[in-house]
Amino acid sequence: MTIIDLRSDTVTQPTEEMREAMARARVGDDVLGEDPTVHELEGLAAEMLGKERGLFVPSGTMANLVAVMTHTQKGDEVLVEAEAHTYYYEVGSISAVAGVIPRPIPGRLGYIAPDQVREAVRPPNVHFPIPRLLCLENTHNRAGGIPFGPQEMDAVGLTAHELGLAVHVDGARIFNAAVAVGVPAGQLVRYADSVMFCVSKGLSAPVGSVLLGKADFIERARRFRKMVGGGMRQAGVIAAAGIVALRTMVDRLATDHANARRLAEGISRTAPLSVDLSRVRTNIVLVAVNARLTAPEFTDRLKQEGVLTLPTGPSTIRMVTHRHITAHDVDMALEAIRRTATAFVQPR
Ligand SMILES: Cc1ncc(COP(=O)(O)O)c(C=O)c1O
Repeated sequence: MTIIDLRSDTVTQPTEEMREAMARARVGDDVLGEDPTVHELEGLAAEMLGKERGLFVPSGTMANLVAVMTHTQKGDEVLVEAEAHTYYYEVGSISAVAGVIPRPIPGRLGYIAPDQVREAVRPPNVHFPIPRLLCLENTHNRAGGIPFGPQEMDAVGLTAHELGLAVHVDGARIFNAAVAVGVPAGQLVRYADSVMFCVSKGLSAPVGSVLLGKADFIERARRFRKMVGGGMRQAGVIAAAGIVALRTMVDRLATDHANARRLAEGISRTAPLSVDLSRVRTNIVLVAVNARLTAPEFTDRLKQEGVLTLPTGPSTIRMVTHRHITAHDVDMALEAIRRTATAFVQPR
């Protein structure tokens, strides 16, 4: 059976060019700052995001944690969107390890508006933790891959700065956002004091994320990366794939977005499933299961048809397009989804 894997863009495999670059990579001990390929990736990423310097880390989760550790002190308050990855999916690390208290703010489709930041930041008072940092996510994963453009990002970033907060952007899929809104990624993070993105998702590299910011921020972040065990030695072997990813994989994300749209439109005609098409702007499709089967049960049935998806709630299934999903795969997946939907609306 052909497997169509729509669980995540993290399942993407490295390209031949990446594998060759990995085999040839010049390497050194990166904990000693001597890996030329890691330096090249960090420099290229900094240039593309308009930041001074970069730091290569093993994962997006670690990039967010190291950013929070670098921006804050224990007991500080961190404003974060209530469904943000940093809050929802990172094992409580910003509390458990960084020792901060998150202040979850329910966004509008993942966007925290400037007025919400104003409302959340309390005046200094001996009873309150010190509000120190605002974390944003672009694209917003749980909201359905929603991209935020320069105006939205600037408005909330500026407000945070006015209120004395630093700004960190979880840009795991920042290049999806940039491609969707049609601007260079740097324009989305002008007011970000730090931003991280992953080379391991739609960009198809096997491992890693890059955290970016001012030179002194990155210098301090390097110590926290070491503290949490993220100092890597001959990491150029994996950084080499990241360089190829940045050079060759960004523009093609538009294909993933077109395929997500095709998938979403097909599903929107498949009762008892529904999709809010206005939300489908990048490579993520959130499907509502309005039926007597729960999302996990529907996911299990689909798996028997060779279509892998991820339930993200009792009645929500997430489907993600990526480099290994063609328009033909989308059509095959749609047939399987229709068969499954029809089977379970019929009486047993
Ligand atoms: C928005 C967002 N941030 C951070 C991460 C964490 O990345 P990693 O899986 O590399 O730790 C993910 C992973 O899916 C994500 O979607």
